[in-house]
Amino acid sequence: MCCFLQGVGGFLLLVFVFGGISDTSAERSERRQEKHQEKRPVSVVIPTAVKRLDTVTLQCNYNLSGEPIYTVKWYKGPKEFYRYIPKELPNVQVFALPGITVDELKSTHKNLVLKNVQPEVTGRYKCEVSSDAPNFYTYMQSGYMYVIDVPVEDPILRTDKEILDTGYRLKGNCSAPASWPPANITWLLNGKPINYTYQERVQPRDYNMKASATSNKRIPLVTVSGVEVAIDESHFHGGKARISCVASVFHLYRREKSVVLDEDRPRPRPSSVLGNRDSNSGTSKYFSIIFYSITTQILLFSR
Ligand SMILES: *[C@@H]1O[C@H](CO)[C@@H](O)[C@H](O)[C@H]1NC(C)=O
Ligand SMILES: *[C@@H]1O[C@H](CO)[C@@H](O)[C@H](O)[C@H]1NC(C)=O
Ligand SMILES: *[C@@H]1O[C@H](CO)[C@@H](O)[C@H](O)[C@H]1NC(C)=O
Ligand SMILES: *[C@@H]1O[C@H](CO)[C@@H](O)[C@H](O)[C@H]1NC(C)=O
Repeated sequence: MCCFLQGVGGFLLLVFVFGGISDTSAERSERRQEKHQEKRPVSVVIPTAVKRLDTVTLQCNYNLSGEPIYTVKWYKGPKEFYRYIPKELPNVQVFALPGITVDELKSTHKNLVLKNVQPEVTGRYKCEVSSDAPNFYTYMQSGYMYVIDVPVEDPILRTDKEILDTGYRLKGNCSAPASWPPANITWLLNGKPINYTYQERVQPRDYNMKASATSNKRIPLVTVSGVEVAIDESHFHGGKARISCVASVFHLYRREKSVVLDEDRPRPRPSSVLGNRDSNSGTSKYFSIIFYSITTQILLFSR
C-alpha cells in the first residue's frame, strides 16, 4: 500500500514537473494570441505593389468587441511612424521616416493615407491596436508593400527559327526589361503553359552602379528565360503554331510577345482523321529527312 501510494506520488510529481516545464508563461501567452487571432480583432488591407508617386491607403480594421481603445500605431519594420491616442490631444502624432509622407488631412485611425510614395517606402507595415485598462490587450497584423518603378519597354522574344518542320526542337529566349524586383517570365505554346528550360536574373549592361549606389538594395535586374521544345504535328493548326512569352511584375506590368511559327510544308494530315499518330510521325520523320537533304542541297547550290 505504502509503495503503491509512493508510485502514485511519483507519477503526480512527474506530471507536475512536466506540466510546469511545458506550461511556461510564454506558451500560455502564445496560446492566448492564437485564440485572439482566430477572432481576428485586427486585420489590415495593404496593397502588395504600387507605383512610385502613387497615393496609397493602408487600412487597419479593428473590433475589440467593446474594449476601449488606447492606441492605434503604424510601424514600418521596427519603426513607429504614426500614433493615434484618442484620449490625448492632439490625438495623432506622425514621426518622420524617409520617403513616407502621411496625408494627415485624409488619414483616419482606420485608413492611413500615404502621398507620393517612393521606392524606399517598400517594406513591412504593421498595425498595432492596444486596448485600455483594465485588460491592455495588444493585437497586430502586418503586410508587405513594394513601391516600384514600372518598366516601360516590352519584353524581347527571339526564336532560332520561325519556319520549321515537325519534330524540330525549337529554341526560344525572352528577356524582360530591367526592374526591381525582377519580372517573372512564363511561356505559352498555343496558349498552353510550358516550362522554361532556364531562367536567370542579370544586371543590365548599361547599369550604372555609382548612380544607384544609395539604393543598392533594389538593383534592377533583367530576367532572361529560355525554352527548348519539340514542335510536333499536334502543335500546328492550319500550318501555324504560336509561342509566347509573358513578362509580369505583380499586377502592375504584364506584356505578352508572340512569334507565329509556320509549318514548313503544310499538307493534308490523314492522321488527324484516322487518329493514328505512330505511323504518321514515322512518315513525317521520313519526309523531314528528305526535305532536309533538299534544303541542304539548295543551300549548297546557292553558295
Ligand atoms: C464586433 O465584434 C462583435 C463580436 O465579437 C460583434 O458582435 C459586433 O457586431 C462587431 N462590431 C462591428 C462594428 O463589426
Ligand atoms: C537568344 O536567341 C537568339 C536566337 O536564337 C540567339 O541568337 C541568342 O544568342 C539567344 N540568346 C541567349 C542569351 O540565349
Ligand atoms: C513543369 O515542371 C513541373 C515541375 O518541375 C512539372 O510538374 C510540370 O508537369 C511541368 N509542366 C510541363 C507543361 O512540362
Ligand atoms: C513572381 O512570381 C511569384 C510566384 O508566383 C510571386 O510570388 C512573385 O510575387 C512574382 N514576382 C513579381 C515581381 O511579380
